[in-house]
Amino acid sequence: MKTNRREFIRKAGIATACVCTGLAGVNGCSMIGGISRTPEIMSDSWELDGDSLIVNLDRIDCLRDTGGSGKLNIGGQLNGDEIKIIIIHQREEEYKAFADCCTHGCRELNYLHEKEQLECSSFGKSAFTLSGKVIKGPAETPLKTYSLQKTDNRIIIDIA
Ligand code: FES
Repeated sequence: MKTNRREFIRKAGIATACVCTGLAGVNGCSMIGGISRTPEIMSDSWELDGDSLIVNLDRIDCLRDTGGSGKLNIGGQLNGDEIKIIIIHQREEEYKAFADCCTHGCRELNYLHEKEQLECSSFGKSAFTLSGKVIKGPAETPLKTYSLQKTDNRIIIDIA
């Protein structure tokens, strides 16, 4: 079927509007996800014990060195809720854990060791301090942080 010039321009206009709407999202942040660079922590390296998430560091290369980070998805294993957590190795013997869910649109986070902050993987790129405060929007709400203990080769994260 042959398309005349007017019909072509009309269709091109509709296509452009759809792409722009998708890029902008409905809340000012692109919901076309960026890429999470954070490695996945395999499920054989952690276990749940009540409200404690016990992570065995022996098997996790991505957390071995300072500046490392890893993410895990507890999924529906706690009260049916999906809980995603990002763990960072900030300094020697110092680890931190956060909800891996940007408070703007729940995109995954990446740890920027050189800036000591967490950044959303969305193109909106909200950023948070390591105490969870918002540095840069569009996120407005602080990031959930989890308390943890380090014992020998394990991290015990309180996910209550
Ligand atoms: S989901 Fe929008 S900035 Fe993170």
